[in-house]
Amino acid sequence: MNKPSILVARAVFPQVLDKLAQHFTVTANQADVLWTPAQLIEKLQGQQGAFTTGSERIDAAVLAACPQLKICANMAVGFNNFDVPAMTAAGVLASNTPDVLTETTADFGFALLMATARRMTESEHYLRAGQWTKWSYDMFAGAEVHGSTLGILGMGRIGQGIARRGAHGFGMQVIYHNRSALDAATEADCKARYVSKEELLKTADHLVLVLPYSAQSHHAIGAAELALMKPTATLVNIARGGIVDDAALAQALRQKTIAAAGLDVFEGEPKLHPDLLTVPNVVLTPHIASATLATRLAMANLAADNLIGYFTQGQALTPLNTLAAATP
Ligand code: GLV
Repeated sequence: MNKPSILVARAVFPQVLDKLAQHFTVTANQADVLWTPAQLIEKLQGQQGAFTTGSERIDAAVLAACPQLKICANMAVGFNNFDVPAMTAAGVLASNTPDVLTETTADFGFALLMATARRMTESEHYLRAGQWTKWSYDMFAGAEVHGSTLGILGMGRIGQGIARRGAHGFGMQVIYHNRSALDAATEADCKARYVSKEELLKTADHLVLVLPYSAQSHHAIGAAELALMKPTATLVNIARGGIVDDAALAQALRQKTIAAAGLDVFEGEPKLHPDLLTVPNVVLTPHIASATLATRLAMANLAADNLIGYFTQGQALTPLNTLAAATP
């Protein structure tokens, strides 16, 4: 029997490619060329499955141009690059990689919070530039982390992981806002209290964004929201670019209406709003919250297993949609 054909749209661990090759005729992109939407459509011709990352947009235009496509397995927990309703309508299964990255991403969220509150990169730049000539009592004095109030916007698995770290490790008071409140047992485990978005913004000493990107969450943090935050507060975004209005944030940082920000994701990344590169009170990282080798390998394996499960058993492990007739 002919093996199904799949496209692996970005470079991936060679051992994951080897595993895929046992089940599929694989077209890979180990040179890691970033394709335009038109090139992606061209590459997808004749392919029944696709292994994608956040950089490949699968929308109605792609689906219409690739009628033989049956499944797109995203190597990411976020899936704002997928138009899931359009995929469902086209009979294309969508899957993502939840759970395997939760704790690693929560670790990073906490690390970014610490680096931001304690001004780690700003002070390192100062030192590397040869500006450190003497100790002084208030040099790079930052914000307290232990015992402070941790705010979390978006209380899914990763938000809960950050809450547990803050509450149990650092004695923080945890408040959160989410589409809906958590059940009482999960709230107790996270020692977290549900509050309105306004109270969250006004009360948090450190506000971490962990909500999914959608039309509804676009610029959920803009000038008006930043104005509600404490002038001593820090803001951390490990969710998605576009949730924060980066221009408004750069202005708030410059005017010190909030103290500092830690950003792993950006509107229009890998391009950055130029003002973010010139304000000192921001820690910038290139979308690496899930980037440990073990976790990235687990994500790649789960995306591969979703393709294999679908084509061998008619079922992905972590699907995002249900199809009327999910037969490969
Ligand atoms: C990374 O941003 C992911 O969604 O997994």
